[in-house]
Amino acid sequence: MKILLSPEEISAIVARLAGELRAAYGFEGAQVARSSRKPPVMIGILNGAFIFAADLVRSAGMPLELDFMRLSSYGMRRSPTSEVCITKDIEVDIKGRDVLIVEDIVDRGLTLETIMGHLKAKGPASVKVCALLLRSKSEKASLVDFVGHSIDEGFVVGYGLDYKERYRELPALYVMEAEDSGEGL
Ligand code: IMP
Ligand code: MG
Repeated sequence: MKILLSPEEISAIVARLAGELRAAYGFEGAQVARSSRKPPVMIGILNGAFIFAADLVRSAGMPLELDFMRLSSYGMRRSPTSEVCITKDIEVDIKGRDVLIVEDIVDRGLTLETIMGHLKAKGPASVKVCALLLRSKSEKASLVDFVGHSIDEGFVVGYGLDYKERYRELPALYVMEAEDSGEGL
């Protein structure tokens, strides 16, 4: 495996994103104390984004409510016919609230489109997306408001991201190489 981002580089990205979130939601400096707005609802997408969401919520320096959604995709990951199903919905009422979706990686954007369609039907005031990683060639890049890091090719693991449920525990992000999977990734 080849290192993509070290723990220190990930921390710097999380801190930068936290600043962008404070600016976007108007929670900067003295505004925090004065704000009477309801805090945004951060929705972490399980399982891949659990570590990123945990780090982001601690860095945010602004009030946030937290909930999670979980999805699974059936069929081959690369197949255009693969379907995304919601296996765990949120429990917070997001009607009239600012919603921030936190994703590990946006690739084709199928997962994100399903999530956004589902959440928008619940009548939130706004929906924004923060993704740790964005595939530079993604056709759905415009859906992502806050991007941690753009990547070109390669399957990424570590820091919550898995390959067949392995490698989530690694503190850094890695790009897998053909010999890692034993089946020619
Ligand atoms: P999309 O629907 O093609 O955008 O795929 C997004 C989902 O697929 C992400 O939420 C990840 O769970 C998974 N995924 C896509 N690329 C990778 C990768 O390189 N490593 C780990 N998971 C990935
Ligand atoms: Mg995911």
